Amino acid sequence: MIEVCGFRQEFLNDIADIEKDSFQNPWSKSMLSDSVSNSNVSFDIILFDGKVIGYCISLYCGIELEILSIAVTKEQRRKGNAAVLFKFVLSDAVKKGVKSAFLEVGKSNMTAQNFYKSFEFELSSIRKKYYANGEDALVLRKQLK
Ligand SMILES: CC(C)(COP(=O)(O)OP(=O)(O)OC[C@H]1O[C@@H](n2cnc3c(N)ncnc32)[C@H](O)[C@@H]1OP(=O)(O)O)[C@@H](O)C(=O)NCCC(=O)NCCS
Repeated sequence: MIEVCGFRQEFLNDIADIEKDSFQNPWSKSMLSDSVSNSNVSFDIILFDGKVIGYCISLYCGIELEILSIAVTKEQRRKGNAAVLFKFVLSDAVKKGVKSAFLEVGKSNMTAQNFYKSFEFELSSIRKKYYANGEDALVLRKQLK
């Protein structure tokens, strides 16, 4: 059974493992812990039969939401899991008065770009050499209803 829930301390190791598996410069466990204690940061977790299979970390900045990270375990990708999670994150933000969402995505990360396109995020600007490896970031934005 799939469910979306908030952060629990017992999820931290699994989130750190998925992060490590998904990104070139993953957040460490202590960076994740620091973020959890920031009241403007929201952690939303997707579970399959009680096991963590993905998470989304977002930052509330007034009427804007910045998506900081979203990832799903390799085994559970392309099954609609991130879509379920992201739908929840965006609709929760709308309930809290957020008007728009934005994020940065690597220029070469076509999988994530396709994912965000499926949510009607649009190119807003380009941040040149944004990442440690010199890659540009695309800033994608969506007005929320
Ligand atoms: C991006 C990511 C979170 C998507 O998770 P997912 O659970 O596989 O995504 P979903 O199955 O919900 O896909 C929803 C839609 O996104 C798009 N999409 C997802 N994966 C895709 C792929 N590999 N190729 C093309 N489109 C893709 C499709 O439109 C898909 O809908 P469809 O399957 O009906 O065609 C996952 O690939 C991931 O963890 N990647 C590594 C971390 C990362 O890059 N995060 C983004 C940082 S900016």
